[in-house]
Amino acid sequence: MAENSTPRIVQLVDQRTRRLPAPPAAFSAGTRLLPKGHLQDTLHRPLHDLRISVTDRCNFRCSYCMPKEVFDKDYVYLPQSDLLSFEEITRIATQFVAHGVEKIRLTGGEPLLRKNLEVLVAQLAALRTPQGKPLDLTLTTNGALLARKAASLRAAGLQRVTVSLDGLDDAVFKRMNDVDFPVSDVLEGITAAQAAGLGPIKVNMVVKRGTNDHEILPMARHFRGSGVVLRFIEYMDVGATNGWRMDDVLPSSAVVARIQSAMPLVALQAVQAGETAQRWGYAGTDGQHDPRLGEIGVISSVTQAFCGDCSRARLSTEGQLYLCLFASQGYDLRSLVRAKTDDADLASAIAHIWQGRSDRYSALRATLAPETGAATSSAAKRVEMSYIGG
Ligand code: GTP
Ligand code: 5AD
Ligand code: SF4
Ligand code: SF4
Repeated sequence: MAENSTPRIVQLVDQRTRRLPAPPAAFSAGTRLLPKGHLQDTLHRPLHDLRISVTDRCNFRCSYCMPKEVFDKDYVYLPQSDLLSFEEITRIATQFVAHGVEKIRLTGGEPLLRKNLEVLVAQLAALRTPQGKPLDLTLTTNGALLARKAASLRAAGLQRVTVSLDGLDDAVFKRMNDVDFPVSDVLEGITAAQAAGLGPIKVNMVVKRGTNDHEILPMARHFRGSGVVLRFIEYMDVGATNGWRMDDVLPSSAVVARIQSAMPLVALQAVQAGETAQRWGYAGTDGQHDPRLGEIGVISSVTQAFCGDCSRARLSTEGQLYLCLFASQGYDLRSLVRAKTDDADLASAIAHIWQGRSDRYSALRATLAPETGAATSSAAKRVEMSYIGG
């Protein structure tokens, strides 16, 4: 390097190249596992939910996910040839469904940036569970392109959407998305999604203490009685680039207390095992939940880990299977698909990988370092959320 040139600071260890092969036992006649409609990991957790990242790009630069300093003009995204094609995604998803997956969420980066996404939605909407039921097919978006796309996504067979929105105040929201994107466009996207029938719509707000926590009440008031379920997410130490500190986390208990002080809430039962959110319903004058006022959710991944019944697998944009949001390595399914592995072997690989799973990062973090929340594995090794999807 020339003496007076500025050294390029590498802030990110690129985990995307760390690939694990499927266990060889998956491909031996005696140990091959064929789909039976259900799978359990080493902690008896079923496989129920597949989250598929369709792009590692995003048009926002949320500080907690893709900070501008790292995801700048020099950041190298995956080349097109590395991405799974829609046919490859559908082939892999088909085997997951045969193993018991009933819910598929498309994520990114920002999934609406992937060209012709409706084609993939239509392919996935055609899948059926072993019991003959359609999937719960949904998508997480930042809402920027939703007004334009809601109707065509619905027509392709998407059932519902979840929209990320971190505040109603333009200055706060723009500071968080870091690309000067206005609140009004996201709200328009939500309205368009409601009109297109993509409900029940959920809105996810990541809460950072001192940054947007004063937006909790305005957000709650805005969405109360609107049919939209607002969920508050504890800011997590996911990835290696967001500079996470425990001090920035506002515990969900505080979120509930703040809302409760202005609008009475009652605890609601979980609908399904393995859910991320604890549900709270707005109470009417009789103190009971009034369904017309709706509900909120709190996702307490830091203060009350929900690894105990985590049933979520994650497929990265380039076909690596991650067993935990905080994993540093994925299993290479793309190489199997591209090597023309037949469906039985592909299904067997997925089964062996899930059956060997013991990941429970958030639960371990909580037991090992309850006060500080210090990470249990080297943060530098964790894969980015924009790569495997939220
Ligand atoms: P619904 O079926 O609509 O209730 O979706 P969901 O709550 O399963 O998924 P969603 O993507 O809306 O999750 C909301 C947020 O919860 C994510 O953006 C993450 O911040 C967090 N989250 C989701 N899944 C996990 C998980 O497995 N582990 C951890 N630690 N956090 C998760
Ligand atoms: N903590 C919590 N949630 C996060 N997301 C991204 N980064 C984080 C983080 N550090 C989630 C948000 C967002 C979705 C796309 O990913 O819920 O809405
Ligand atoms: Fe993009 Fe969502 Fe990450 Fe924000 S949180 S940078 S909108 S992928
Ligand atoms: Fe599941 Fe890992 Fe999240 Fe725990 S930390 S809930 S195991 S994805």
